[in-house]
Order: sequence, then C-alpha cells, then structure tokens
Amino acid sequence: MSSAFENTIFEDPILNVIHLLNSIAQENPEAISLASGRPDDEQCDPVLIDKGLSRYQQHVASTEQSLATLLCQYGKTAGVINDILADYLQVDEGIKVLNPESIVVCMGFQEACTLTLLSIFEGGGILLVPDPVFSGITGIAKLLRIKILPVPMATFLNPTALRKVAEDLESRGEKIKALYAIADFSNPTADSLSYHDRRAMLRLAKEMDFFILEDTAYSYFRYEGEKIPSMKSIDSSRVFLLGSFSKSIFPGLRMGYVVAPEGDGVMPFSTRLCKAKSLVTVNTPALCQAVVAGLLIENHYSLKGLNQPRVLSYTNKRDHMIKCLERQFPLKADARRTITWNHPAGGFFINVHLPFVFGYSEMCECAKDFKVIVFPTSLFSLTNDAVTQVRLSFSNATTPEVTQAIDRFRAYVEFKMP
Ligand SMILES: Cc1ncc(COP(=O)(O)O)c(C=O)c1O
Repeated sequence: MSSAFENTIFEDPILNVIHLLNSIAQENPEAISLASGRPDDEQCDPVLIDKGLSRYQQHVASTEQSLATLLCQYGKTAGVINDILADYLQVDEGIKVLNPESIVVCMGFQEACTLTLLSIFEGGGILLVPDPVFSGITGIAKLLRIKILPVPMATFLNPTALRKVAEDLESRGEKIKALYAIADFSNPTADSLSYHDRRAMLRLAKEMDFFILEDTAYSYFRYEGEKIPSMKSIDSSRVFLLGSFSKSIFPGLRMGYVVAPEGDGVMPFSTRLCKAKSLVTVNTPALCQAVVAGLLIENHYSLKGLNQPRVLSYTNKRDHMIKCLERQFPLKADARRTITWNHPAGGFFINVHLPFVFGYSEMCECAKDFKVIVFPTSLFSLTNDAVTQVRLSFSNATTPEVTQAIDRFRAYVEFKMP
C-alpha cells in the first residue's frame, strides 16, 4: 500500500468502535452477546411501518399536498414533517420550538451530530466531551479533524470542576466551541446530569459563549425517579438538541433530528445545517419520515405510550442482570465483591469495574474461550482511563441468555484471577 494511506486518521481505533459493536457477535456466533446497545429485537415490530405509513397517507389526504410528490420526489432538505416534530417535542419534552424551520430531520443521531459539527466548527475551536463517551460523536469529530478535549466523567459531572477545566483552557487562549452531553443515562457508563448540573452547564455555556450538543437518545428509558427536564427545554438559546428515534421507535428507520438554538438575538443555524445536509444526504428518505410522522399523529404526538411496555421490559432486564451479578459475585468475608458495578436508573448499560485490565484482546479471549461477549469500556475512551471497566448491555438479551452470560463471565473472571 502506498504510504499516503498509512498512519492516517482511519487507523484511529475510535473510528472502528461502531463497526466492532455491530460485527463482533457475527464473528463469534456461539457466544452470547452483551456487547451492543441494540434495542430489544422483540420491540422492533415491522407492523409499525404499515401503521405509520397508512396514518400519514390519511393525514396527507386531508391536506392540499400531493402524496406522490411528498413520498416519491426529492424532498425539502430540512424535512417534510417538521411541524409534526415540533408538536411532538412540545408534548413529550416540554420543548417549545419557536420556528419549525429550526428543525432539520436527519438520518439518525449520527447525521444530526455530523451536520451540527460541520456547522459550528469552521475555523477551529475545541469540542469538550466526557470520557469515556459514545464513539459516534468522538469518531466523527476526529474524522472532521476537530480538536477534542476529553474530560474525566467525574469532573464532567461536577459543575465546579468542569468550570475550572473550561476556565483553564480559555486562559491558555483555547476556545471551547461546543460541549457534548448525554444528560440522561449516558453510553457507556449510564451517568446522568442532575437538574442542578444542567442549569450550571447552561450558565457556563452562556458565560463562555459555547454551544451544548444535547443527546437525548436514552431519555425515555428511565426506570426509577422523576424525569429531569432537558437542557433544551430549560434554555434553547445555547443548545443543539440531537434527537434519535433509534431506541424510541427502531433503528432500521435511521431517523433523528437536530433542533438548532433559538431565542432573541440567537444566530439561526438552519441555513448552515441545510447546506451541509444537502451535500451529505440531500434529504432524509420521505418514507422513513412518513412512518415516524404517522406514528406520532396516531399517538397524539407522544411516544410515551409506545415505549411504556419497553420501559417495563428493560426494567426487568436490568433487575435480572443485577440479580445475576449479585449471585455470581457474592459478598466475600470482608464484605467486598471481586467485581463491582453501578445501578443505573435508566438506559441500556451496566458498567462493571474489574480488578484487572480488560481491553480488546481480553474481549476476544472471553468471546472465544468463554462464549460471552462483553465490551471494554476503555474502547469508548480517548485517554487511558477505564481500562479495568466493562460495559454490559442488557437491552437485547433474553433473561435466560443474561443468566447464562453472567455465569460464563464469572468463569472468565475466575480464570483471570484464580
Ligand atoms: C449515546 C447515543 N446517542 C445516539 C444513539 C443513536 O444513534 P442513531 O440515531 O444514529 O442510531 C446511540 C445509539 O447507540 C447512542 O448510544
């Protein structure tokens, strides 16, 4: 291979994480996978496609619009269901979108964050991210040559410590352009920002003139406690809301959206987002938009009802996984366990701390020899942090599979620590 194709950004391991998550199970067909954060297969019901599409067809028939043009032609760059999404955001999220033009319908969160980064990082600046964090954001930021500052999760969740990091950066002449946050149940560690943290983050963004990229992918999936308002609903003026229907409907639709900051004197970003979109994917497939819009209309602009059985099922799965962990790793005489884990109030993941390093080669060893796939949390990290942590996903394994998987994982831990 010519040297022009060696040592490039494409060699960076963070660019391989999403592919790895989607391929590791196929490479180890005999292993039970707790690796990927896929929604439950049982919740991915193709009946929703017909339901959504036919309800949308009915809706269009009651307007002056042509269904043929809407569904079959090149469509508006920003999307054709923006009014419907604005109503949905009001009902489910308490977000008042002042102008539906501020919404750009995208092919999943992944396109929403790509367009947003393209729109705001011209001329440089820093993207601040918690570490470890979902590689969808860090991978694309690297590909776009954006300078990233990973901040340890504990610092990120402490407003005083976060402010200090931001002030130190700026005192060195660096400009923070944006901060990425999964306010509810992050991937991979299931951490959340409290209401107080969210307000403090908004204040910091205003004072230091940067944007917050708020990812709400897991916000429906709360298993205990009260919903905390999104930052977008508290103050829209500094926040790009990056939404996804991958977990709340299903990922095959590849549907998501970005809502640009709004408010008095706020720069409108929709023109930039649309210019970028027109050159990346032209427009989001109208068929997929129609399915989402039809389901929203049918469900009175709310996905809470559709997701209620899912929340119940995920709650049971989380509880079951914790019970299995407790059974396989009981308290020892000194009242400690060999391994520890968090107790997430929502999301799809449990994060485990091991007494030894668990990286890519350990994942392969565990998959090949112990027939269970668990994902190293460190593969989501840009620093050397989290090297002894493991992300266990409970969203798409059945309870018997979880029982067996945790049993096999215990055997692996015993093999490493005889
Ligand atoms: C943190 C986070 N955001 C967003 C998404 C959804 O991305 P998309 O809408 O591109 O499927 C995921 C999926 O795994 C995720 O973990």
